[in-house]
Amino acid sequence: MTVHFIGAGPGAPDLLTLRGRDLIAACPVCLYAGSLVPQAVLAHCPAGARVVNTAPMDLDAIMAEIARAHDAGQDVARLHSGDLSVWSAMGEQVRRLRAMGIPYTVTPGVPAFAAAAAALGVELTLPGVAQSLVLTRTPGRASAMPGGETLAGFAATGTTLALHLSIQNLARVVADLTPHYGPDTPVAVVWRASWPDQRLIRATLASIEAAMPEGIERTALILVGPALAAEGFAESRLYAADYDRRYRPQTAESPWAEWSEGDD
Ligand SMILES: C[S@@+](CC[C@H](N)C(=O)[O-])C[C@H]1O[C@@H](n2cnc3c(N)ncnc32)[C@H](O)[C@@H]1O
Repeated sequence: MTVHFIGAGPGAPDLLTLRGRDLIAACPVCLYAGSLVPQAVLAHCPAGARVVNTAPMDLDAIMAEIARAHDAGQDVARLHSGDLSVWSAMGEQVRRLRAMGIPYTVTPGVPAFAAAAAALGVELTLPGVAQSLVLTRTPGRASAMPGGETLAGFAATGTTLALHLSIQNLARVVADLTPHYGPDTPVAVVWRASWPDQRLIRATLASIEAAMPEGIERTALILVGPALAAEGFAESRLYAADYDRRYRPQTAESPWAEWSEGDD
């Protein structure tokens, strides 16, 4: 018996990985985080599967469900939204599984920040503009931030920020970031990226609050940084015509010449 943690993606059912789909189809038990995992993903569960929404459950109750499946020798598909590496609560579950001696696997999913960038049609790292992406959040009712992780600290880098779980703190975000980025820095709010009712709000730090329509709450990502609207950035060296590289040696003397054929 194994618990398969599966990233269910940002919302669109066809943004589930093939491996995730096949695991869901093979597991007689499915536990899903119902607040964000789309119902259509559950259609892959086999007929007669025990399908449980864990949104109203506490950790003990979730682990009791897993223990029950373990006793019955039934594999479990454990679905969380997006990818499991960020804000999924997988860490505390696998710690308990290790203590219980229950094996598990992890299948990644498309994270919300990637779906948001895709919806905007932008690259979040551009040559000379931003070469880092900070995935972060602001404190919530249940989650304080570790002391060193301040918005001001991240903003000092000037790079692209992807703020999760923070749309209710938009005014605070604007106030903390403006001294570092300046009021004209581009901001995008992507609400329910990849869902049929997805909405995109493009503005600047100075104008984003006034630009927000009614009803944009909870499932929204705030992206901030010059890469969102940069036009004058340099092209990458990777595809430059004169760039000597393994796949395109420029001369017979190139250190890469001997690699150019038959090499992947
Ligand atoms: C509990 S976290 C889950 C993050 C998820 N594990 C991931 O990989 O993106 C929930 C937050 O992720 C963001 N989020 C999740 N799905 C989203 C979507 N489809 N569109 C925009 N933001 C989303 C929102 O900031 C939301 O408050």
